[in-house]
Amino acid sequence: MTLNDGTYRWASLWLLLLILVATASLDSAIAEEQPVSAEIQRGRYLVMTSGCNDCHTPGYPEAAGQVDEQLWLTGTALGWRGPWGTTYASNLRQVVQRVDEQQWLSHARNSWRPPMPWFNLRDMADADLLAIYRYIRHLGEAGGAAPAYVPPDQEPAGVYVQFPPAP
Ligand code: HEC
Repeated sequence: MTLNDGTYRWASLWLLLLILVATASLDSAIAEEQPVSAEIQRGRYLVMTSGCNDCHTPGYPEAAGQVDEQLWLTGTALGWRGPWGTTYASNLRQVVQRVDEQQWLSHARNSWRPPMPWFNLRDMADADLLAIYRYIRHLGEAGGAAPAYVPPDQEPAGVYVQFPPAP
């Protein structure tokens, strides 16, 4: 068989198509590997270094921080019992779905019960608190709700840390 002009034309069309498909898939591969924004990275850094994981991530202190990031801030079933009753570190992955950015700024600084260090968030710059919010949103929703607050006169179910009564 001899190659005429028509065959060449078809061959070059196929080649062009092949190149287009290859470039498109390369583009989407690059898009998937795009690094997250500097702000989200800062939010992650703040979550790691300002203690949020210590209480809000299951098993975080016990594992010296070696917990899969997908589980971060999903809340825990460990109770904190004291004169205020028994509190449980909330699932922040769910909380950020319920409040928008403006609401988050006041919500996070609400005078929550111990041992939540809400006063640290009160003193945190808005930009940092927003970076935390955006990082948690970036992680997406995960996990179930933490156990509900138990009043002081009721015995909590499960494992809890007991604080001495107020003097
Ligand atoms: C020492 C443990 C501890 C640390 C550290 C901690 N939290 Fe908490 N957090 C709690 C507990 C316990 C509660 C529930 C308080 C309550 O029931 O009143 C809570 C509640 C909250 C709430 C209210 C959520 C809701 O239920 O609507 C937010 C927001 C929050 N924490 C954010 C943070 C952030 C952000 C950090 C890190 C800067 C952090 N917490 C660090 C223990 C902690």
